[in-house]
Amino acid sequence: MWILGHRGASAAAPENTLAAFSLAMSQLATGVELDTYQVENNNVVIHDRWLNRTTNGKGMVTSHSLSQLRKLDAGHGEVIPLLGEVFTLMPPHAIINVEIKHLTDISLWLSAIHNDLSSSGFPTENVIVSSFNHRWLRHIKGAWPEVKIGALTATYPENGLGFANDLDAYSLHMALDVVDEYYVREARQAGLKVLVYTVDYPDDMLMLQAWGVDGIFTNVPDLARRTLLCD
Ligand code: G3P
Ligand code: CA
Repeated sequence: MWILGHRGASAAAPENTLAAFSLAMSQLATGVELDTYQVENNNVVIHDRWLNRTTNGKGMVTSHSLSQLRKLDAGHGEVIPLLGEVFTLMPPHAIINVEIKHLTDISLWLSAIHNDLSSSGFPTENVIVSSFNHRWLRHIKGAWPEVKIGALTATYPENGLGFANDLDAYSLHMALDVVDEYYVREARQAGLKVLVYTVDYPDDMLMLQAWGVDGIFTNVPDLARRTLLCD
């Protein structure tokens, strides 16, 4: 069962920073999940649309230049990372789930991530691209067929696996609040990996493991590693 550090090991280090991603790997996570905004043809790694909660800045991420964003403190002196820096930092065996929160231009987004992957040497096959915006995912998969798509949903899908099939998805990323054993079984029988967010309590981890879930997103990879007998 995969243990993916949600925004890194974000219970113990500032979320979505290189420190949080490093810590997740030293806590023996399988990999990490992170959130991105497209700014000046780069992807910056931050969760909120607004800077106020996680940095010493104010206002919307997208109202700032890249150089302004890079001067901010994202916690404990960490800067807001670029996606390319995460690819460079992470070991090649790690899984990285890139969740797109915002993009302005899909062609530029594609050229930026291809550039980040080739300059870092991080393997494309270990990257899963997800978003709640399935239109973006459909366009990305059309232009980049080999990419792994994570069909992300916060609600119970009304059309069964239809939305994941439409996206030619590799994995289904479901909220803990809505996932059930029946849906996990159906998705896995259809060849999809099922990953569940955000799972921070041992009882939930063990329940999902018993259901056959393939992985969890957790803010506490160390606790997950102690709780689950998994590789
Ligand atoms: O990708 C899973 C999960 O991170 C989605 O919710 O709000 O934590 O980005 P959120
Ligand atoms: Ca996320």
